[in-house]
This record gives sequence, structure tokens and C-alpha cells, in this order.
Amino acid sequence: MENKPIIRKAEASDLEPLLGLLDQLKPNNKKYSQEDHTAAYKALLEITQNKDYFLKVCEIEGKLAGTATLLVQMNLSHGGKPYGHIENVVTDQAYRGKGVGGLLVEDLLREAKTARCYKVILDCAESVSPFYQKFGFKKHGSIEMRIDLE
Ligand SMILES: CC(C)(COP(=O)(O)OP(=O)(O)OC[C@H]1O[C@@H](n2cnc3c(N)ncnc32)[C@H](O)[C@@H]1OP(=O)(O)O)[C@@H](O)C(=O)NCCC(=O)NCCS
Repeated sequence: MENKPIIRKAEASDLEPLLGLLDQLKPNNKKYSQEDHTAAYKALLEITQNKDYFLKVCEIEGKLAGTATLLVQMNLSHGGKPYGHIENVVTDQAYRGKGVGGLLVEDLLREAKTARCYKVILDCAESVSPFYQKFGFKKHGSIEMRIDLE
């Protein structure tokens, strides 16, 4: 890539471009209301202060090209070692296929190792699984279960 990408933790001032990126995970989402913005800003402030929550962004020439998050979850088994949960991995349409998603996933895997996680899990569509397999993820036998609470 011509302009060196910077991987860093998200800051409160990243809210607008972050919401724009997250929109690309679920196209057809309805637009954010002012209330949604206020709630998202509050959540972002809390996330940036949570040592177990790594909300990373990839910045290229001052623009957010992608984002991904790792949540380090406490655990009693496995000698009390935590496990990591990766979510919300998205590269802006304009930057796809240039290594941004890979840089973000590799960064989160480094953070998970530093936090002594014994495994990292994630859910993804079948079509995206080859992307994660490039970084060592393997399909696991279990299925995702979900209940919508609102
Ligand atoms: C999946 C996604 C994050 C990949 O980001 P990206 O920045 O384009 O990925 P990279 O350029 O870092 O690709 C890294 C490698 O994975 C490969 N790859 C990327 N997307 C792939 C896909 N969907 N299927 C197979 N391989 C893929 C690339 O070809 C590249 O391979 P290479 O190293 O051999 O060249 C991006 O396509 C995206 O945002 N998609 C929409 C949102 C989404 O589905 N996110 C996943 C939620 S679980």
C-alpha cells in the first residue's frame, strides 16, 4: 500500500466514520437518529476506558479505512485464562483487497496473545470464512445460537 496504514485504538472523535464503517456490515440499515448517535457516543466513551475491549481502527491518510474489535472475556476454566471474541470486522468498500482487514485481525490476535487468551472465537458468514482461515482460524463444529431481545 502506498500510504502506510496506522492501526490504533479508536477515540471518541472517530464516532462518525466508525458508524459509517459499521453501516457497511449491514447495508439497508436505517439511518441513525440523534438519539442513536448520543447512545453510540456514550458506548464509545465506555469502550475506550475498558481495558478488556480493543476497538481498533485502521487509518490511512487521516481516513478510517477499517475497524475491528476484540473483547477479552474472563474465564474460570483453562487455569483462569481469558478467551478473545472478535467482532465487527469491516473494511471500507474503497479500501478492500489492500490488506486492511488482515492488518486489523493480526493486530487483534497480537493483543489477545498479550492478554494471555487461550483461544479467539468469532462468528462469520460462510463466504467470509476463507478470509479468516488465512489468519489461522479453523471452522469449529458448533453452530451459532441467537435470541433477539428487541
Ligand atoms: C471481509 C473483509 C473485512 C476483508 O477485508 P479486506 O481489507 O478486504 O481484506 P484483506 O485485503 O486484508 O485480505 C486479506 C486476505 O484475505 C483475502 N480475502 C479477503 N476477503 C476475502 C473473502 N471474502 N473471501 C476469501 N478471501 C478473502 C484477500 O484476498 C487477502 O488474501 P492474500 O493475502 O492472499 O492477498 C472485507 O471484505 C469486508 O469488510 N467485508 C464486509 C464486512 C464483512 O463481511 N465483515 C466480516 C464480518 S464477520
